[in-house]
Amino acid sequence: MVPNHLRATPEQLAGPSTDVRIVYDRVASSYDHFRELWLRIAGADAERAMLADVVPLLHPATRVLDAGCGTGAMSRQMLASCPQIGLTMLDLSPEMLARTADLPGTRLEGSMLELPFADGSFDLAVSAWVIETVTDPQLAVTELLRVLAPGGRLVYTFCSLPDGWFSRAGSALLRAGVEHGFAGEFLDEEHTPWHDCGSSHRRRFRGGLTTEIALGTCCTVGPGVLPTAADPTERSTGSRP
Ligand SMILES: C[S@@+](CC[C@H](N)C(=O)[O-])C[C@H]1O[C@@H](n2cnc3c(N)ncnc32)[C@H](O)[C@@H]1O
Repeated sequence: MVPNHLRATPEQLAGPSTDVRIVYDRVASSYDHFRELWLRIAGADAERAMLADVVPLLHPATRVLDAGCGTGAMSRQMLASCPQIGLTMLDLSPEMLARTADLPGTRLEGSMLELPFADGSFDLAVSAWVIETVTDPQLAVTELLRVLAPGGRLVYTFCSLPDGWFSRAGSALLRAGVEHGFAGEFLDEEHTPWHDCGSSHRRRFRGGLTTEIALGTCCTVGPGVLPTAADPTERSTGSRP
C-alpha cells in the first residue's frame, strides 16, 4: 500500500490509461535498472539539460510537482539539490509510486490528463519520460501549465522520433523495446506539444531521439504553435501560422 496518497477515479483509470498502469505496475520492481540503461544508451543528455534548467529554480518552499514520478528518480535528484522543496509526486501506477515511500512529500495516485490540483498550485512542474506514454500528450502539457502559478516553469523530457531514415533505422530496435516494454511512443514533430516563444526552449539530442522542453506560464500548446522545424536540430525561431 502507498501511504499518504489519493486514489485515482475509475474514470481516470479507464481505457488506454489502464493498460499503461498495468505495464508500469508490472515493471516497477526492475524499473530502476532499465532507467539506468536508458540513460546510458540515450537519455543522459536530455536529463542533464533538464536538471540544468530545474536546479536553479529549487529553493526552500518552492512548490514542485513531479508528474509521472515513477520510482522517484527526478524527485531524488531535486531533493538532493534542495531538501526543503515542497514536493508532490503523482503517478498512475501505485506500484511505481510505492517506491517513492522513502521520500519526503505528498504522494498521489492520479492521471496527468486530469490533474487533481487547482489552477496555480505549483511554482515548478517537471515530468521526465512521461508524455510519450500518455494517450494525449498535448492535454498532459496543457494540464501541467494550468497548475503553474504565474511565473512558474514547466520542464519535461521525452522520447522523440529521430531525424532522417538513417537515425530511424539505427534506433529501430531501441524504439521497439521502449514501445513494447514501457508503453512509450516516440513523438514526432506533429505530436510534440510545445510553444515557441521568448520564455521557452526545446533541445533535441541523439539525432532527435530525446527532447527536453522548458515552458513558462505565458505558453499554450496546440497545433497553431508547433515549430516548423526546417532543421529540427536547430531551435526554431518562428511559429506555424
Ligand atoms: C518511463 S516512466 C518515467 C518515470 C519517472 N518520471 C522517471 O524519470 O523515471 C513513465 C511513468 O509515467 C507514468 N504515467 C503514465 N501515464 C501517466 C498518466 N496519465 N498520469 C500519470 N502518470 C502516468 C507511469 O506509471 C510511469 O511511472
